[in-house]
Amino acid sequence: MAGLFREEIIEEIRGRIDLVDFVGEYVNLRKQGNSFVGNCPFHADKTPSFHVTPENGLFYCFGCGVGGDLFSFVMKIDHLDFPQAVEKLARRAGVSLERELPGGAKQASADRLNRLREINREAALFFFRNLRGQEGKGARAYLQSRSVNEESQRLFALGYVPRGSNLLQLYLKQKGIETEEMLAAGLVIKRDDGTLIDRFRDRIMFPITDVRGRVVGFGGRLLGPGEPKYLNSPETKVFHKKSLLYGLHLALPVIRKEKSVILVEGYLDVIALHQHQIKNAVASLGTAFTPEHGRLIKRYAREVVILFDNDEAGRRATDRAIDIFREQGLNVKIASLPGAKDPDEFLQAYGRKAFLEALGKALPIIPYRLEQLKQEILLDEPGNKSVLLARLFPDLAKLTSQVERQEYIRLLAQELNLSEGAIWDDFRRNQGEQRRKYPLLRDKSPEIRNNTIGNKNVNSFRSPYLIAQENMLKVLVQEPALVTRVEEQLGSEVFADEKCREVFDLIKKLVAARPGEPVLTADLVHYAPETLKNFIAKLASAPDLPLGERQVEDTLNRLQLQYLTDQVEQRQKQIREAEEAKDSSGVQNLLQEISNLQRKIQSLK
Ligand code: UTP
Ligand code: MN
Repeated sequence: MAGLFREEIIEEIRGRIDLVDFVGEYVNLRKQGNSFVGNCPFHADKTPSFHVTPENGLFYCFGCGVGGDLFSFVMKIDHLDFPQAVEKLARRAGVSLERELPGGAKQASADRLNRLREINREAALFFFRNLRGQEGKGARAYLQSRSVNEESQRLFALGYVPRGSNLLQLYLKQKGIETEEMLAAGLVIKRDDGTLIDRFRDRIMFPITDVRGRVVGFGGRLLGPGEPKYLNSPETKVFHKKSLLYGLHLALPVIRKEKSVILVEGYLDVIALHQHQIKNAVASLGTAFTPEHGRLIKRYAREVVILFDNDEAGRRATDRAIDIFREQGLNVKIASLPGAKDPDEFLQAYGRKAFLEALGKALPIIPYRLEQLKQEILLDEPGNKSVLLARLFPDLAKLTSQVERQEYIRLLAQELNLSEGAIWDDFRRNQGEQRRKYPLLRDKSPEIRNNTIGNKNVNSFRSPYLIAQENMLKVLVQEPALVTRVEEQLGSEVFADEKCREVFDLIKKLVAARPGEPVLTADLVHYAPETLKNFIAKLASAPDLPLGERQVEDTLNRLQLQYLTDQVEQRQKQIREAEEAKDSSGVQNLLQEISNLQRKIQSLK
């Protein structure tokens, strides 16, 4: 199905369209915890049973059982097939399907986007020549004073636009570019009185490229003090701030090789790092990091090192970025540079070696938070250790690996001079309170309480065995890496239900295919056959439990118990058959098996 389109195209579209925004055009959604709820557009829904979870990009209706991702939503709501849905969403996202679909209309829209990039490239050339020419003298001196050498200026194609209200317009016009096109490219502004003015005047110009290196917009910096210090191109059909990263095209070869990205705040930080031969640095365009950025990075890297400015704003931005990247399953580390306001200043002042040392000391999330909290909370005051712990628990709860959680609790016990057991107790109690404070769906809806979610016929009986299988899968969908443990401890035969077995096998396959890499729920849905998408979305929409060791152990146990019970029942049936067939040795064997099974069951209880 997905074979028709290149994976990247599908991902790019997904990255550019916010599921909640999109669905919000059809359904009145309101926020509830981590998700959004509203009345289902696919059935006559009186209570809001329709859930959209931005975190995993999925929707699911607890009333009628319909669920899936952005593409499934469009297919269902507009009665389209997959290619039509892709086309529709691509149009909306401004993603070109040029090479995927033949045909005139698509070509025309692709041509328009190419034209916008062409105009931006022309402008970049104009700026570049200005910087190298007579009128660029002051700008060159400024860049020199900022230690941006000529090689870097060329590598990043830096430019300059002189003072004047229409220099760029005149140049572009001479290249045969229409005013309308200049406006569409965001390079020229129409004032209230209808007159036109160049957007950028007397600024150092930083061309911003997409991942393929095509110029799609600019940042322009004043040479001296003044406001705004940086001016960026506005959003256009090719310039989407929330999914572009400055320097990505240049950094890509190294990012691909090292599977690691250094994330900084400023254009000049990126340039300084490159100039010091640290070539996997990128920055956002002065905006906060978005899930789209996360997805983009995840395509090429496994690890992100956050290295933001050494100020309060930088620390706040760090916290937000941590959340975003953690949700994407990226391995996040945070570095800090004492004695400088940003990476650029640090490199100029202390050099490459000191910088690499600081980078080497980058901390994972929990130790980073611990350091931050230790500065904020005085530990010698009584009671403050538990205050500090309570602030750390949400991060501990978000760890996807129980092993890791254990390691950190050990570390915390040492750091705070407490016993591991005491921290575990507090942690579990804290998680329990969170759940009471923010009651889960399970506690509210009778369908869910009775474990009848997703059943069109609410009265249809679902055996405890099936429920146990589904509950195990809910855990696995949240933490696919546990699949090996389930396989080892129980074996895949415990998934007797065909659908459950298919999901289990899919998770197993994905985890095996990418050793060491996280598998996300979105991946599962993406690779699942159409027939399983609803089911997986349903499993994933289960309330996001913090997966403590105890829950995992419980779920495993219960499934094993139900499996064994089912085995007993099957043998009892076989005994009746054997009796009818007067097969007495068969009966004997079966009775023996049953007693073995029952012994196992007893040991589990
Ligand atoms: P900084 O102020 O840290 O800029 O803003 P910088 O890149 O380090 O530049 P210098 O060292 O001050 O010259 C970080 C980023 O925030 C965006 C830009 O993308 C900038 O690189 N920004 C900043 C704006 O978009 N507008 C502004 O007015 C300021
Ligand atoms: Mn800065």
